[in-house]
Amino acid sequence: MPAPLFPAPLTLTSGMPARDAWPLDPSVIHLNHGSFGAVPSVVVAQQDALRRRADLSPVEWFPRIAERVQEARERTAPFVGARAEDSAFVPNASAAATVVFNALRLDAGDEILVTDQGYGAITMGAERLARRFGATVRAVAVPLLASDDEIVQLFADELRPSTRLIVVDQITSPTARLLPTRRIADAAAEHGVRTLVDGAHAPGLVPDAAAVAGGDWWFGNMHKWPCAPRGSALLVTTAPDRDELWPLIDSWAAREPYPSRFDTQGTIDATTYLATPTAIDFIESEFGWAAARTAMAEIADAGAELIAEALRPYSDEDPLTPLPSPVPSMRLVRLPLGLGATREEADALRMDLLDEVGVETAFTSFRGVGYFRLSAHLYNEASDYEAFVERCIPQILRRAGIRQADSLVLP
Ligand SMILES: Cc1ncc(COP(=O)(O)O)c(C=O)c1O
Repeated sequence: MPAPLFPAPLTLTSGMPARDAWPLDPSVIHLNHGSFGAVPSVVVAQQDALRRRADLSPVEWFPRIAERVQEARERTAPFVGARAEDSAFVPNASAAATVVFNALRLDAGDEILVTDQGYGAITMGAERLARRFGATVRAVAVPLLASDDEIVQLFADELRPSTRLIVVDQITSPTARLLPTRRIADAAAEHGVRTLVDGAHAPGLVPDAAAVAGGDWWFGNMHKWPCAPRGSALLVTTAPDRDELWPLIDSWAAREPYPSRFDTQGTIDATTYLATPTAIDFIESEFGWAAARTAMAEIADAGAELIAEALRPYSDEDPLTPLPSPVPSMRLVRLPLGLGATREEADALRMDLLDEVGVETAFTSFRGVGYFRLSAHLYNEASDYEAFVERCIPQILRRAGIRQADSLVLP
């Protein structure tokens, strides 16, 4: 098997290596952008500068915070293909889902459809909504390799007269694939069923993510792939009843309509929102977002192949799991049988490998099978994936009870 081809390490327009633009600990290997993002130094500096301004003159800063957040909304919403007047800043995807769930009224016996690839914490929110009204939650089983057509059909088949709401991911968390949310939502709307699209991973990976998602409400994290400071997400909706949506903190803008009532949240640190346009502009001006997506895909493909090749001698099935609708920056590599079979085990493996061999990873679990969910951002290089092979594969094989060949030879 020829060695996978990695693109040359990326550089900024100044010639500086891209990886030096992020203040990540160089003694740690960072292969899990997907979970918590990573903030470039220029964005950290911008947020620090904003905080300094707030500290220099709190009375200048806080009474004008709504204007500042509105301006940040105006600069951020177009990045996801939305209008500022349809977009509210919230701290994260979980908060956006909570805002929508808090607004909904169901009747006893109503049903919410989620999927078995949904994000657990958001599904728990849907369950709490259902409990408040004596409704139920049912998970549509979406096979790992189902085509878009099959998935649209699955949802159409699962709709019942009692179904009121669908909660569906634009990019799934355990399996890192795109789902045809617009088609699912359009078909549901014909039956009067509303759709909440969880686009937590979509900004930056899907051009105009909110515009293409469909559904009644969409949300996405700016602190994942766009590299904004953590605590920055957008909720977007044109739903006619959107004035029922309330921020999680009641505050002075409570008499304002959606979305401006979200711009004031008592005395909070809104610098995460205000520094978000700096992150978007940084990647656009240094790499271009379209080129960035292409580069992430090239790095992800090569990284996944390198790791899969190292696991092949120990696997009955090909560990590389090519998905029908992949995203640019994440890939799934199947773990040896029995490893990461539950979410708890997958999470424990993540922490063990960080503590024992200094590699940040994400392992996911789907239907009793564990996967390495590999991430690739612009700071990742071939050496990161080589380090995974050298440091993590021996640990993974040992945990799976597999005797390793004498030396792991990098292709
Ligand atoms: C699909 C999905 N939804 C929601 C979330 C929650 O995001 P946050 O922790 O920023 O609220 C995540 C986080 O990874 C996710 O992958």
